[in-house]
Amino acid sequence: MNYTLTTPLYYVNDRPHLGSTYTTIACDALARFQRHQDKGVLFVTGVDEHGQKIQRTAEARGVSPQLHCDEISARYRELWQRWDISQDRFIRTTTPRHLQLVEQFYGRVKASGDVITGRQTGWYCVGCEEYKDDPADATEPHCPIHQRPLEWRDEENLFFRLSRYQEQIEELVARDDFIAPASRRQEVRNFVQQGLRDFSISRTNVAWGLPVPDQPGHTFYVWFDALLGYLSALLDDGQSIDLDRLKDAGWPASIHVIGKDILRFHAVYWPAMLMSAGLPLPDRVFGHGFLTREGQKMGKSLGNVLDPEVLLERCGTDAVRWYLLRDIQFGDDGDFQQQRFVDLVNNDLANTIGNLLNRTSSMARKWFDDAVPPAGSGTGPEHPLAQQATQTVDIVLAKVPDLAFKAGAEAILQLAIAANGHLNDTAPWSRMKQPGQEAVVAGDLYVVLEAARLVGVLLSPLLPDLSTRILDQLGIDPVNGPWEDQLRWGGLTPGSMLPKPNPVMQRLELEESL
Ligand code: MSP
Repeated sequence: MNYTLTTPLYYVNDRPHLGSTYTTIACDALARFQRHQDKGVLFVTGVDEHGQKIQRTAEARGVSPQLHCDEISARYRELWQRWDISQDRFIRTTTPRHLQLVEQFYGRVKASGDVITGRQTGWYCVGCEEYKDDPADATEPHCPIHQRPLEWRDEENLFFRLSRYQEQIEELVARDDFIAPASRRQEVRNFVQQGLRDFSISRTNVAWGLPVPDQPGHTFYVWFDALLGYLSALLDDGQSIDLDRLKDAGWPASIHVIGKDILRFHAVYWPAMLMSAGLPLPDRVFGHGFLTREGQKMGKSLGNVLDPEVLLERCGTDAVRWYLLRDIQFGDDGDFQQQRFVDLVNNDLANTIGNLLNRTSSMARKWFDDAVPPAGSGTGPEHPLAQQATQTVDIVLAKVPDLAFKAGAEAILQLAIAANGHLNDTAPWSRMKQPGQEAVVAGDLYVVLEAARLVGVLLSPLLPDLSTRILDQLGIDPVNGPWEDQLRWGGLTPGSMLPKPNPVMQRLELEESL
């Protein structure tokens, strides 16, 4: 079974920010999970390189738009590599193959009779690359997202006849499985019910865009070009650019993961464009929430932007991934709080999981010849810790494919807490001093080590590095590919060697603000 998932294609107007890192980390967790579920995963990410915003940024820097795009795209690529993002495709919309695809797609839309000429007037936000309907203040209209003045536009454009798709789009957004999370559906339904208007797909004042065939002076509207990047990414396999090949190349996508601000483009405009071109629709569009920092919107003017490069450098991938995936309900807005970040990482990862492993492994090594103790009777699936482990597996398998990373992470943490509880209740350190108790101690240590193994295995999609270190401490290989066998209770072999304990997670000590 194929599973294609996409992040948005990020604008290269500026360096990667925490918002794009957040989406990409979540998609990476999902991609890794689906690979473990034995799905043929195609994880697509990339950059959106055209449009007025990028043209202006390059002009302001005094460099050519292409050079600017090359530089920022390279930074994205490098950053994803440093975060160990496991994408299969990285698409740039300035590649010649993408132009070829856009031309083909446009040809289909035109042949469907969905392109007409019209006059576009209205207030435009270059930051959003979007016309804004009826701004609140009509004399000096501002974009509520970018807090910058809107610009008045009046030009002859080509339009896509979105209005023709009213009924189909209404049906689509009425479905309960298309837009997720559920809390975002109504807003889109309301928008569609107001009546869909044709939207302009060309510009006459933007040189930095793909030229529209047979329409001198027109370039494609950046969103028309960018959405098609998802298709180009799938056809980026060295073979011909041919839309008919898409069904064998991973289209339709199982899910587009995006921020809530760009839901309309993905849940309304994009499906209509695909219908017009005779292509299947993505199964699902997931609009996640926005991150703030210490309760405030992040912005350059406020000087409070969290730089993902600094975050990575100072805290490492595991810490950041844990905080973002474990503390924020993916879908809702979330707030990055430094103290909470430090506390959660230290309590959950360094103490609960790290110490569990360290102390259990030390005791096992000391009393059982540096090896996993004999399991003995009563340590099979009927053991209470085994039952909790099985429930944890069920929760992770049910929640993570629905992007409920928080529920998955919390269940894993609970298993580690229960394992610590079992150690405290059975107190092997005092029981070992009593005569004839060795077999009981062996069993108690075995179940705790086995629970720790499952914690390590289940963490693999969420925190791949920490997972590897945990499993390494248990003398076993990292999760690689399908994990069904590794998810069964009892995987740890008694008598197998336990390496010398090494803390799997360093405590975070952040004295200054990040
Ligand atoms: N280029 C378009 C997407 C085209 S997809 C075919 C775009 N790019 S973007 O770089 O501006 O935004 C990328 C994503 O980052 C969006 O999903 C947006 O919601 C997300 N975020 C931007 N700021 C954010 C936060 N503060 N928090 C979380 N996500 C945020 O839009």
